[in-house]
Amino acid sequence: MLLKTNAAALCLAASLSAVSAQTFQRLGTCPDLGCVLPPDQQDFLPGQEFDIRFEVHAPKNGSEAYNNGVPDDKFTATISKDGKPAKSIADFFKQKGEPALEKWTFQWYEDLFAQDAKTPSVVNVASKAYRRVALYEPGDYTVTLNYYGGKKTVAKWTVRPLATKKKAKNVIFFIGDGMTTNMITAARLLAHKTVNGRYQSLLALDKFPVLGHQMTHSVDTFITDSANSASALYSGHKSSVNAMGVYADSSPDSEDDPKVETIVELLRRIWGSAWGAVSTAFIADATPTALTAHTRLRSKYTVVVDQVLNGVRNYTWTKTGGPDAYFGGGAEQFIAGSGSPGGKDFYAEFAKKGYSVSWNKTALLAAPNDQRALGIFCKSNFPVWLDRNVFTDNLATLKNDPSGADGPAKDLPGLKEMTLKAIDVLHTRGGKNGFFLMSEAASIDKQMHALDYDRALGDLLELDDTVRATIEKLKALKILDETLIVVSADHGHGFDVFGSSDTKYAAAQHDDRHKRNAVGVYQNSGLSQYTQPKEGVSYGTGANFPLNWDPRYVIAAGLGANPDHRELFGVGQKPRTPASVGADGSYYVNPSDRPNGFVVNGTLPTNEAQGVHSLTDVPVYAMGPCQDTFGGTYSNIDVFFKIAGCLGLGQPTNKTQTVDKPGHH
Ligand SMILES: *[C@@H]1O[C@H](CO)[C@@H](O)[C@H](O)[C@H]1NC(C)=O
Ligand SMILES: *[C@@H]1O[C@H](CO)[C@@H](O)[C@H](O)[C@H]1NC(C)=O
Ligand SMILES: *[C@@H]1O[C@H](CO)[C@@H](O)[C@H](O)[C@H]1NC(C)=O
Ligand SMILES: *[C@@H]1O[C@H](CO)[C@@H](O)[C@H](O)[C@H]1NC(C)=O
Ligand SMILES: *[C@@H]1O[C@H](CO)[C@@H](O)[C@H](O)[C@H]1NC(C)=O
Ligand SMILES: [Zn+2]
Repeated sequence: MLLKTNAAALCLAASLSAVSAQTFQRLGTCPDLGCVLPPDQQDFLPGQEFDIRFEVHAPKNGSEAYNNGVPDDKFTATISKDGKPAKSIADFFKQKGEPALEKWTFQWYEDLFAQDAKTPSVVNVASKAYRRVALYEPGDYTVTLNYYGGKKTVAKWTVRPLATKKKAKNVIFFIGDGMTTNMITAARLLAHKTVNGRYQSLLALDKFPVLGHQMTHSVDTFITDSANSASALYSGHKSSVNAMGVYADSSPDSEDDPKVETIVELLRRIWGSAWGAVSTAFIADATPTALTAHTRLRSKYTVVVDQVLNGVRNYTWTKTGGPDAYFGGGAEQFIAGSGSPGGKDFYAEFAKKGYSVSWNKTALLAAPNDQRALGIFCKSNFPVWLDRNVFTDNLATLKNDPSGADGPAKDLPGLKEMTLKAIDVLHTRGGKNGFFLMSEAASIDKQMHALDYDRALGDLLELDDTVRATIEKLKALKILDETLIVVSADHGHGFDVFGSSDTKYAAAQHDDRHKRNAVGVYQNSGLSQYTQPKEGVSYGTGANFPLNWDPRYVIAAGLGANPDHRELFGVGQKPRTPASVGADGSYYVNPSDRPNGFVVNGTLPTNEAQGVHSLTDVPVYAMGPCQDTFGGTYSNIDVFFKIAGCLGLGQPTNKTQTVDKPGHH
């Protein structure tokens, strides 16, 4: 009898670990029935503020069913440093008593069979959250959750060494969203000429003195998205897909998840520096908002945009007081209506807090540098560089005026104009306290999703041109030596070039197999024709960009992950939609996309309309103070620790500036 019980218990333990670490997860960071958030293996900057949440799970049914679905609500938790005696969490962090016990129920599917059969497993939860604490002393900490009379979940946390000395006054962090080394290589081929295999000019990125590699995995999956990868880069804490500035918990409220302090929150609190963000995405998108967002759901656009200006609402949390410069697209979150926070005119909310508001390039360039600046130049994402500069007829058909008026946005700035203006504002306003700027080329990612390689590479070249202009600008301002410039990505896509395609030959063929024979591989790949001027055509986009976007021999390229689509290599006049929805609700070849191309059967689940992110490590380019720390191969969280170390943000005591009043010149 006893033996039998033990066997059953063993069996349960085996099935527990079998289900919980797989692709469908009860809670990714929680391998057994007790969850500690932040979970095991997390690192902290000394003094970085965060919340702690404990959860005890009681699965009511499914393979893990336990204790009749009744969670232990008498659980206890302790923390100890470097093997010293453990203290209760409340005592250790000098909390005023224990936080309230919370209870909820959630459900999840254990695998695809359960999902098809619509039989979710139901889990009851007991939980407590300790809000806004910090660990100041470097060392190793052990957090232990005790529950169900003898079960333990242990999390090891490390507080990294102190770095109180500020070595860089300013940081400019460029993010090519989804940008990989393969894309950089392809962009170089398009824009820079070779003679006998030798480049005659190079990308600005090629001239950086230090190059490293970061691994982009999420806390609970090996493929990441832009929300949680941005979070890792900005906070040193990996999160889950769709989450920013929090460790995702299992509660129904997406705003109550345990938070971690970000680079700009630390920088404002400790040094009172100026900060800003620039993006060619809608500005409520993940990469710009993750600087201040604390939510499990990146799609809560009204919440994350509100957090940019007003900070976290329902919990006591450090506030940045709002950015000093904030430029991008996404007018739909600013024009009064359903997309804006509280339905308010959010332009007016910014103006009330002392911001200049610009809707076009002329206004942006004229905005005073000593005043906080908001610039929203279109609805949705920016039209891409190719459409703004080469296929300009595509702009006239858009209905993206940022004021909300009908018709297209006019007089759009590019990433370069926005970034250079942000530097002027941040340099003026930061004064002796310096500044932090994040500048994102968003549509490298967005156009790779659409399999529109040319539009993606055009935006990558715009980023490179912006980096080049930024270095010149910093030289002119005499602040190049005191500014750390980092150029990296948040994740990649499985893109590469494998040859060239003869567009003339492809057009003359009448079936899929013959069209594919237009592709020249190895010795037939030839040379880039993008750097040869096209007779009678000048795009006026200058050096650093292709002289011909539409040569006879184009790059043959592809992604490792795609929906069913038709391929016809070469630039398209119109932005691309590779797959369209069929009668059964899943995605098939879009008959109107590249109709003269050949069919490529997809590799993705049939509910994916676009390409998806991939596993690849991504490059990290660094120049300026602390540049040498960026060489080698490391985790995405290390990018945060390197930047925070260079800014002296590791603090031995609670240092909190008054940040409500801007203008600390
Ligand atoms: C668990 O119980 C719920 C009803 O509470 C039911 O809908 C679900 O199918 C059950 N799941 C399993 C795996 O038995
Ligand atoms: C740090 O000090 C500020 C201001 O006194 C306070 O609001 C905050 O809660 C403190 N943080 C921690 C982690 O104790
Ligand atoms: C804050 O709490 C209130 C009341 O519970 C709720 O209505 C609101 O949605 C919450 N706001 C956010 C940003 O979570
Ligand atoms: C730019 O915006 C200003 C208002 O800020 C407006 O007066 C001007 O007409 C706009 N320019 C263009 C070209 O739309
Ligand atoms: C794509 O898949 C379909 C079956 O779903 C098949 O009939 C067709 O031949 C495939 N096309 C190619 C180009 O492999
Ligand atoms: Zn993406």
